[in-house]
Amino acid sequence: MRKKLMAANWKMYKTPDQTRDFFRNFLPLVSGQTRDEIVVCPPFLDLPAAIESAKGSNVAIGAQNVHWKEEGAFTGETSAAQLLAIGVTHVVVGHSERRQYFGETDDTVNLRLKTALEAGLTPICCVGEVLEEREAGMTDDVLRRQCVRAFHAISAKKAAKLVVAYEPVWAIGTGKTATPEIAAEAHAVIRYEAGKIFGEEFAAQLRILYGGSVKPENASALMAQEEIDGALVGGASLDPKSLAAIVKY
Ligand code: 13P
Repeated sequence: MRKKLMAANWKMYKTPDQTRDFFRNFLPLVSGQTRDEIVVCPPFLDLPAAIESAKGSNVAIGAQNVHWKEEGAFTGETSAAQLLAIGVTHVVVGHSERRQYFGETDDTVNLRLKTALEAGLTPICCVGEVLEEREAGMTDDVLRRQCVRAFHAISAKKAAKLVVAYEPVWAIGTGKTATPEIAAEAHAVIRYEAGKIFGEEFAAQLRILYGGSVKPENASALMAQEEIDGALVGGASLDPKSLAAIVKY
């Protein structure tokens, strides 16, 4: 049985004060929830406030990106050691918004993933097709390519903590959720590909999250799919009640 991971991606929302407010309201709502893992990924600036607020709770804190170098002249970037030093345990890698707007490629995703795994962070590696690719019947090819390149030259042993998130780009922030069946189909493609790369045993325990307009209203139908091992929630994770409802699907 794969333990589900319910993850929040706040993107570029909230200040440190708003972060503290969120946790003050959110933690009591999910205090008994041990069925699944819970992770909140706020902007870098809010990480210390989030870590301090969530200390001793059942909620872990993740970053939204990590650089692959140990240190150096890389203005605007953050290293794995810097994240670990303040208590970050998870990191989102290769989000479609990084790919779309900030020049992230399959190769840089691979570098970030390797570094995160080496450092002992739990990476949530995002893959997913854009609308034109889906309409052209290319979804499976795109997912295969993204997985092959992202996982390049990583051993199954090193990849032990890997989590993948399937986020169809056409479903992000659009209110259009992939149906549970569409998501499950894509997850099966990812799992099959992971099996070819890392071995079937690894693939059987790999957690694959779904992301894209996950809301309290659709969470339980999505989570009922055997292929879906959790959620990566954007917009609906900003409100404590809404994220708690999703966590409790
Ligand atoms: P929304 O839940 O706002 O569609 O965002 C999904 C996402 O990109 C999570 O990483």
